[in-house]
Amino acid sequence: MCGIIGILGKSDAVSLMVTALKRLEYRGYDSAGIATVTDGVLGCRRAVGKLVELEATLATAPLQGKAGIGHTRWATHGAPTTANAHPHIAGPVAVVHNGIIENFRPLRDELRAAGAKFTSETDTEVVAQLCAANIAAGMTPQQAVDATLKRLEGAFALAFLFAGHDNLMIAARRGSPLAIGHGDGEMFIGSDALALAPMTNRVTYLEEGDWAVVTRDGAKIYDALGNLANRELRVVNVDSVMIDKGTHRHFMAKEIHEQPSVLAFALSHYLNANRTAVVVPEGDLDFSQFNRIVMVACGTAFYACHVAKYWFEQHARIPVEIDVASEFRYREPPISPRDLVIFVSQSGETADTLAALRYVKDKAGLVVAVINAPESSIAREADLALPIKAGVEVSVASSKAFTCQLAVFAALSILAARQCGKIEASAETALIQKLTQLPRLINEALAQEPAMALIARDLAKARDILFLGRGTMFPLALEGALKLKELSYIHAEGYASGELKHGPIALIDESVPVICFAPVDPLFDKTVSNMQEVMARGGKVLLVTDAEGAERASDGVWKTLILPKIDPFLAPVIYAIPAQMLAYHTAIEKGTDVDQPRNLAKSVTVE
Ligand code: G6P
Repeated sequence: MCGIIGILGKSDAVSLMVTALKRLEYRGYDSAGIATVTDGVLGCRRAVGKLVELEATLATAPLQGKAGIGHTRWATHGAPTTANAHPHIAGPVAVVHNGIIENFRPLRDELRAAGAKFTSETDTEVVAQLCAANIAAGMTPQQAVDATLKRLEGAFALAFLFAGHDNLMIAARRGSPLAIGHGDGEMFIGSDALALAPMTNRVTYLEEGDWAVVTRDGAKIYDALGNLANRELRVVNVDSVMIDKGTHRHFMAKEIHEQPSVLAFALSHYLNANRTAVVVPEGDLDFSQFNRIVMVACGTAFYACHVAKYWFEQHARIPVEIDVASEFRYREPPISPRDLVIFVSQSGETADTLAALRYVKDKAGLVVAVINAPESSIAREADLALPIKAGVEVSVASSKAFTCQLAVFAALSILAARQCGKIEASAETALIQKLTQLPRLINEALAQEPAMALIARDLAKARDILFLGRGTMFPLALEGALKLKELSYIHAEGYASGELKHGPIALIDESVPVICFAPVDPLFDKTVSNMQEVMARGGKVLLVTDAEGAERASDGVWKTLILPKIDPFLAPVIYAIPAQMLAYHTAIEKGTDVDQPRNLAKSVTVE
């Protein structure tokens, strides 16, 4: 993936590009770079690491220019080095790129044979070299880009800048998102509207295969066939204030603590004014029309689907199939008009999820997106986009988006139950009543932070950690393990409690903490039996439960963490808090980069 910015401005574009790139750092932070064109001459600065490193480079070696392109990188081809950082320059052409050029090897061989000298290991450099070769052959920049694009295979977004042209940028989209921003005598290019927000809220999204010739007077957009295309100019509602951490040390801490309020906001969106019924303000959604629900997502969003599967099946008795997006499409699953397919994505830009959506688009009865970013590609391409209302999530590891996704699915499962005739009005009101208690109960769970921080001190010493859970606690165990590994780099696995005896129990010894998510519910005794099996083999158990569970099962456990008593239906939302907090505080103990863990990115726009 990676983030792209481009500016044809009236004043200094460099500092504006740095500001915009900071907003794109969620897409990768292995290196960053900027190129400008001033009086026809290209200049470039690049630095390995996060934006602060590029800022330091610019402080010692300033760069001027009213026109420029910039990039923040998540490495795919070639290590995070300065030579591999974007922009890549060949002759009069500078390029920044998001995505993958799949046929870069044969193109590179061909260009090398013609005398081109490559300076990086990236797939991107072939784009610059090919375009430069076309210009050397007598083409104009526009003709050169057109000819270059025709040779490229893969999914990508590109922005070009040219020596000798202070009033020209060319942008292209194939697979990866790209937006054109309209200013007053200024024009912009960005990977998303959030990056453009400090400059403009008037945005045109390029469609699949589009490319645009941009000058300060505006943008001419061509479709994949080279015909002039008329794309809608939208006024987008993106917060232009740079999101800050408030009083918190990390964005993740802020986002964890925001959960009671954003979740209340999300719930109020999906409940009627009297809080007696679930509503979908965005449009018609009738679950009774479908034989089956198929849910597809990646990462944490996939675990939200996993929880939702239990809820839809239990409440509405609709069969639910779930899959990770990267597997779903290539499995070529049969999809029929009686299928409701739901894609879940915080960013709305995850490449695998978007590709899976395109696979079902003409096959499914209805394609619904449950997203946090309302202007995202997944939101725009779905038949119906349902917001989770979590607000901008900056920390790479997802927290509030997960619980808001759960809140939306909890509400939708009640709606589905009603539409399918599986619950009485009184039962529906009772379930909604429980839902509305969630913000308060999350607050109570958050109050256990000091206890969780204390436990994390010991977890930080472990090399491996297991998470166990039954029923809806199984996906929570998976999420707890994912959070812990991505934040603290400690190896962790999540298992269904009952699966422990089929292999993972071989890992148990006194050095492996085993974290059991076990609220008192109808499965509690069974989980406790699995916990006993761990303890009988010298394993040390952290029991995460409520006061009653602690009373009934704390004997012999290593540590107990007590959460508020909660109806089993909504326990996954509350048990997300220790899953997040234990990972967060373990990361603090280990001194890792909480908000931007190594090798990760918040939005993964490559397959
Ligand atoms: C990345 C992020 C995860 C996220 C996943 C899916 O891997 O680091 O936190 O869960 O992508 O992202 P999405 O935006 O589609 O929910």
